Amino acid sequence: MNTSNSIFVWIVFLEVLISTVLCQGEESIITVCQEEDTDLRVNCLLEPKANYHTDFEFSMSKGNKEMIINTNISGIMPEPKFRHNTFVTEIEPYGFRLTMMGFTITENTTFICKVTKTQKTLFVELDTIEPCSAISVFLLGYPWISLLIPLCIMWEDF
Ligand SMILES: *[C@@H]1O[C@H](CO)[C@@H](O)[C@H](O)[C@H]1NC(C)=O
Ligand SMILES: *[C@@H]1O[C@H](CO)[C@@H](O)[C@H](O)[C@H]1NC(C)=O
Repeated sequence: MNTSNSIFVWIVFLEVLISTVLCQGEESIITVCQEEDTDLRVNCLLEPKANYHTDFEFSMSKGNKEMIINTNISGIMPEPKFRHNTFVTEIEPYGFRLTMMGFTITENTTFICKVTKTQKTLFVELDTIEPCSAISVFLLGYPWISLLIPLCIMWEDF
């Protein structure tokens, strides 16, 4: 095998390795972290489908009970206890961020995010929630990793 061939093999190998790590369990699409001020932040990087009316829905399930946290689908009401202490903002270039004020999970919880009929889920174990600052420091330290995230989303579409 000549040098350029083996470099190519290495690049493919690294690409697969990184995608596997980043795309594992769809964690790169949904991330959950705790802000310093005790807010829980759920990022959902789902791209809205073109030519559809965009809407979002965040919910969570514990055991087999699913609770709507926040949505702008007309006709769907969130759980009363989340009606006044959660809000959703848009993320550039696409995606939605749910903020749950003064909230943390007290048991293993599955977060579900829907954007225009596409749905992703993330199982979050109690005591594994990272502070948000750790995640942004991680991305700051390795800015090239964030460049690979769209690649990882593309990967999933195939
Ligand atoms: C829901 O939010 C999306 C994105 O902000 C917006 O385009 C859409 O019009 C909203 N839907 C409703 C029913 O308000
Ligand atoms: C939470 O989930 C982990 C991994 O599935 C499991 O080992 C643990 O027992 C669960 N904890 C509770 C309180 O259900």
